[in-house]
Amino acid sequence: MRKYLTLVNKENKIKNNYLKNIKLVDTKLVDNTPCQLEEKTYQNYLALKEELAKNKIEVGLGSTYRTVEEQQTIWDDYEKEYGREYTKKYVAIPKTSEHHTGLAIDLSLKVNGKYTWDNNELLAEEKTFKEIHKLLSKYGFILRYPKGKEQITGYNYEPWHIRYVGEIPAKIIEKNNWTLEEYLTKFSAIVYVNKEKNMTSFDVVNKISDIFGIKKVGHTGTLDPLAEGVLIVTIGQATKIAELLTAEDKEYIAGVLLGIETDTLDITGKVIKTKPIDLSKDIEKVINSFQKTYLQEVPKYSAVKVNGKKLYEYARKNQEVVLPRKEVTIKKIKLLSSDNDTFMIKTTVTKGCYIRSLIRDIGLSLDTYATMTTLTRTKQGKIDIKETSTLKEINQGKAKLHAIDEVLDFKVIEVDENLERKIKNGQKLDNIYHIKDKVIFKNKKKEILGIYKVEKDKLRVWKNF
Ligand code: DAL
Ligand code: ZN
Repeated sequence: MRKYLTLVNKENKIKNNYLKNIKLVDTKLVDNTPCQLEEKTYQNYLALKEELAKNKIEVGLGSTYRTVEEQQTIWDDYEKEYGREYTKKYVAIPKTSEHHTGLAIDLSLKVNGKYTWDNNELLAEEKTFKEIHKLLSKYGFILRYPKGKEQITGYNYEPWHIRYVGEIPAKIIEKNNWTLEEYLTKFSAIVYVNKEKNMTSFDVVNKISDIFGIKKVGHTGTLDPLAEGVLIVTIGQATKIAELLTAEDKEYIAGVLLGIETDTLDITGKVIKTKPIDLSKDIEKVINSFQKTYLQEVPKYSAVKVNGKKLYEYARKNQEVVLPRKEVTIKKIKLLSSDNDTFMIKTTVTKGCYIRSLIRDIGLSLDTYATMTTLTRTKQGKIDIKETSTLKEINQGKAKLHAIDEVLDFKVIEVDENLERKIKNGQKLDNIYHIKDKVIFKNKKKEILGIYKVEKDKLRVWKNF
């Protein structure tokens, strides 16, 4: 959930209305002071505590949700006792503390039969904390201020401060040895979704954005609510390559009903034309004749723009508009089965082809009308429906996450620091690699720096990362 990825740090203050979408529950600190924590954070903390207790590690709540005033008191107390320099390394300035989110916990530890929350006493328990940290991601927590990341987090190592982000982000953060800051800027992935019926492509995008807690999510080729199958979704930096994936050929299996045409060209629409079907027509022959390049009229109910307005906006207002025609290629088409007034086809088409329109055109060639009844996208580019995951599987952390260079067929070149600097600055390069189309540049850490394309005898930046 996006709210569990809220970033509060030195640069990002807590928002005034933050608590509106958060449910805080009452509990108690180890010294019995009443305190509050976000509901799910608390539940997961209890589960973590229970598992740790089985391993003879006793943890309690040292500090939880804090108001801005409480943070001020902590700052003042620390400053008085340890001085300003020390305080800056361990205590956040009011409004910049993660404790305002209700998603952060300072763990207290039972040492020699007594709970402690003293920084130095806790720092001496490194071995125990190692055991605790191993279990964090299982319960959706991350270690928020790890060793070696002080430059990024702005704080010293705090083995006690854990932060709830949810299981899926927690596992990714752990695996990549990232901080929350790094996850939110660096996480990039492509997921192959098997979209179910009755969802819009936008619904899928929203759901994925929610699961990973990442704002920037895109899809590569719309599937209508009626349609199911392959929907490739790009997350984070990967949204930069969405247009390349959208341009790929697509394979579909579609069901057709003959004798009617609807306003939407599919079975969800209103019937606007009917005509008895001619059973003597050779359906297979007509279908095979569609393996061609032709100018296809786009559907009235589509997002294609005419004079800056989407076609479905005209259609909904019953406004007349000339439907544009677009060149499409039906690369393959095959009749799978037929039965009286219904049949199924399998087809591979180029970008921008509407299967609903193709079916309308087949109907007209059969001297009747035709309407699409079902649609499954079985392939996009080289990605087959067999490789896809349902939203449910993705939500359970079972989906495979794909990297940019894995889904693109471009050569990958690892460069040294000198070239890395040039690429980051978007400089033109000599095509000493004999690249024909595009090339992916990575640094020694295997991070993608940019995608370059050939321009005359040079390589020019196409996308920077
Ligand atoms: N100890 C952390 C940085 C805080 O005060 O929020
Ligand atoms: Zn803390």
